[in-house]
Amino acid sequence: MRRIMKLTTKTIAALALSTSLASAADVEVLHWWTSGGEAAALNVLKQDLEGQSIGWQDMPVAGGGGEAAMTVLRARVTAGNAPTAVQMLGFDIQDWAKQNALANLNDVAAKEGWDAVVPDALKAFSKADGKWVSAPVNVHSTNWVWANKAVLDANGIDVPKTWEEFTAALDTLAAAGVTPIAHGGQPWQDATVFDAVAMSAGGPEFYKAAFIDLDEKALGSDTMKEAFDRMAVIRGHVDDNFSGRDWNLATAMVINGEAGFQMMGDWAKGEFVNAGKEPGKDFVCFRFPGTQDQVTFNADQFAMFDQGGTVSPEQAALASAILSPEFQSAFNVVKGSAPARTDVSDAAFDACGKKGMKDLAAAAASGNLFGSMAHGHSAPASVKNAMYDVITAHFNGEYDSETAVVELVDAVSIAK
Ligand code: BGC
Repeated sequence: MRRIMKLTTKTIAALALSTSLASAADVEVLHWWTSGGEAAALNVLKQDLEGQSIGWQDMPVAGGGGEAAMTVLRARVTAGNAPTAVQMLGFDIQDWAKQNALANLNDVAAKEGWDAVVPDALKAFSKADGKWVSAPVNVHSTNWVWANKAVLDANGIDVPKTWEEFTAALDTLAAAGVTPIAHGGQPWQDATVFDAVAMSAGGPEFYKAAFIDLDEKALGSDTMKEAFDRMAVIRGHVDDNFSGRDWNLATAMVINGEAGFQMMGDWAKGEFVNAGKEPGKDFVCFRFPGTQDQVTFNADQFAMFDQGGTVSPEQAALASAILSPEFQSAFNVVKGSAPARTDVSDAAFDACGKKGMKDLAAAAASGNLFGSMAHGHSAPASVKNAMYDVITAHFNGEYDSETAVVELVDAVSIAK
């Protein structure tokens, strides 16, 4: 099935042809941070650069997971008009590096000692052939649940620890006339939920075998069928208007008490914070039941497109600003993510932020840190998109679970 494209061919062509109005001392930044919480975080970066007299030319392309942004990027590069800096995830960075499209950041990385402070899980994507090709901004993770505290309290629901406790809580909310799950039916959001559901159904070895090793046996297993069965249970607890809804509007449903839970990466916390809500008081954050010891991560990075030769002073300044410990704290407190450096204090972070940082360190130490399939950190875009199609078709009732498993094996073997 065809995925919904928000951008028309005309828009993409117009964007591709638009020549940059930026002056030499500007950076043009292509990104998909368009929600309230994301914009607030982006402002931290803009202001940092303004303080260094570097102008900011904004190039926002909405759509979580960055699929639409990557489509615009390809059009811009084809037109010979690449933006200066581009928000990018995991395997996409490596793909562009293979095409020699990215500037070498080794000088600034060496001067500032990035090698010693950026964790290996991120370096695997930030470096290609020994060269730093992107500046990591943060570490997000996808296996979170966000809940409205008053809704839980009013319905006598404790934080569920197992899949069975979770489904019991969903039934309680449904019986009380509250939408149990706020969800936006877009392929990347369906896949984000699937990250956590598959991890919970099969555990870390299964997750790794299926999404990272792309092992046919795991992809076609009964455990995968169980994961799809659980997605069908979740589908049964979303409201009638879920289709096409943006993720931040789903978060707003939880913020406003119209829904009990949202399964979403910790960028959702940026929305709660932006709405003046506090963890423990207004909302609750917890790991998806059955994934308490695991973290499925994605890291936003800025790749600098080679503007013909060496990295420009503005690109170097942007990279340097991004990696500074002060920025890493200030930005990630607002964004909902953990810092991309291991030496940043958690003092300024709220309870969910502290938990996120603690979980991340523990998962890295115990071998339970895995790249998010939904956010481009487990396999290249072709495989990711093939998985999106099957997950969404199943979520929308086009396939039963058994068919979805067969289609998944097929789609992945064609895409890889
Ligand atoms: C990015 C986040 C962003 C989210 C929703 C994810 O792919 O890593 O930074 O907030 O998409 O737009």
